[in-house]
Amino acid sequence: MIKFRNIKGTHDLLPDQVAIWRQVENIIHLIMEQNGFGEIRTPVFENTDLFIRGIGTDTDIVSKEMYSWTDQGNNLLTLRPELTAPVARAYIQHQLSNKNPMHRLYYLDTLFRRERPQKGRQRQFHQFGAEAIGSPNPEQDAEIIAIAYNTFQKFKIQDMTVNLNSIGSPEIRIKYLKLLRSSLVKVQSKLCFTCQNRIEKNALRLFDCKNSNCQTLLDQNAPLIFDEISDSDYLHFDIVKRILNEVGIPFSHNKKLVRGLDYYSHTTFEITSKSLGAQDALCGGGRYNSLIEQLGGKHTPAVGFAAGLERLILALEKNQFPEKSPDIYFIHLGEDATIIASKIANDIRIEHGKVVIFEVLRRSLKAQMREAGRSKAKTVLILGDDELKKNKIIIKNMQSGEQKEIEISKLDQYFNNISN
Ligand code: HAM
Repeated sequence: MIKFRNIKGTHDLLPDQVAIWRQVENIIHLIMEQNGFGEIRTPVFENTDLFIRGIGTDTDIVSKEMYSWTDQGNNLLTLRPELTAPVARAYIQHQLSNKNPMHRLYYLDTLFRRERPQKGRQRQFHQFGAEAIGSPNPEQDAEIIAIAYNTFQKFKIQDMTVNLNSIGSPEIRIKYLKLLRSSLVKVQSKLCFTCQNRIEKNALRLFDCKNSNCQTLLDQNAPLIFDEISDSDYLHFDIVKRILNEVGIPFSHNKKLVRGLDYYSHTTFEITSKSLGAQDALCGGGRYNSLIEQLGGKHTPAVGFAAGLERLILALEKNQFPEKSPDIYFIHLGEDATIIASKIANDIRIEHGKVVIFEVLRRSLKAQMREAGRSKAKTVLILGDDELKKNKIIIKNMQSGEQKEIEISKLDQYFNNISN
């Protein structure tokens, strides 16, 4: 018999893990709402062209990591590998700019990239992120960075570094790329095959290369884009830094941080944590002033970030989320008692909103008591045929060990009293 297993790079989350995920997700929703961001949910798949045009043909994501297929109607579709392009698509499609000059959108959703799986890197993973669409101003960049940083602080993530850079405006890039190419001509043949190809097509992507030889050649020969940005780009970056200093967010200026997606301009940033190991990026983001226009909308400045939820959960201390235990474990013995106990359990859930675990394995009293203890329920209800004959039920307080018998008809009053 074939033993089915989950696909490589995907994970099952079992109830104990989901209990932590749910608490983390709730806090993220709260933080986003506190910052005035509204949740957006877009479809899991989109036209492939959206990602090609949005992220760029020569990026790792588009050139090797997308799950794409042609459907029965000959449409070329892709499981979303990121959410900024879909959010921009939705922004244009629903003409959000006509409704308000400023939109603050956030998401917490599933993505797919066919990367080599390892700790903190899956093929199906989750991101939460925020996209602020409408403002060209540096205070918006700083606010986005602060939202990301404060979220990780809230979860007490250790050893964080905020890496910050500016890659300037798209006009600067054309001039810079010429300079970069000419400075690399003499070492072109020493670069890896991918980098040799990228020099002509998209030389900025050379900085994403994982090959250490290529990185050394870049260090020795390549000019850095930050050193070429315009005075106004420099001023923009300076204000971002001044606000971060004022707010108290430590950062380091990393002039090599160009980010692996083509839509960025001006500010780029990444927050890493040493506690994550090799895949140390908690989040990444930056400004993308041309993306919306590139996808067919009006020129609209925007800035955002996205963070891997799996990585956040890997990095946080799990003991900040105490295990939840049920309110009641319901023990019953005998056929008549079981029937009445079923009704009582149902009523307590509906009328009093209590979490009730109901015995369904017909175990002995001793085994049921043991299970009740294991469940860490606060209260145990016991109904046997003997109690039923007297119209009574036993209530045991598991914290104090105190046990009493009350009339079944008084149970309602009992739960009303304890919840008051
Ligand atoms: P990204 O850097 O590709 O940016 O991804 C952001 C974060 O998602 C990473 O820092 C990492 O935490 C997580 N991540 C990425 N790939 C994986 C993976 N295979 N497994 C687990 N976690 C992963 C973006 O996606 C941009 N859309 C961010 C952005 C939003 N820029 C502006 N707005």
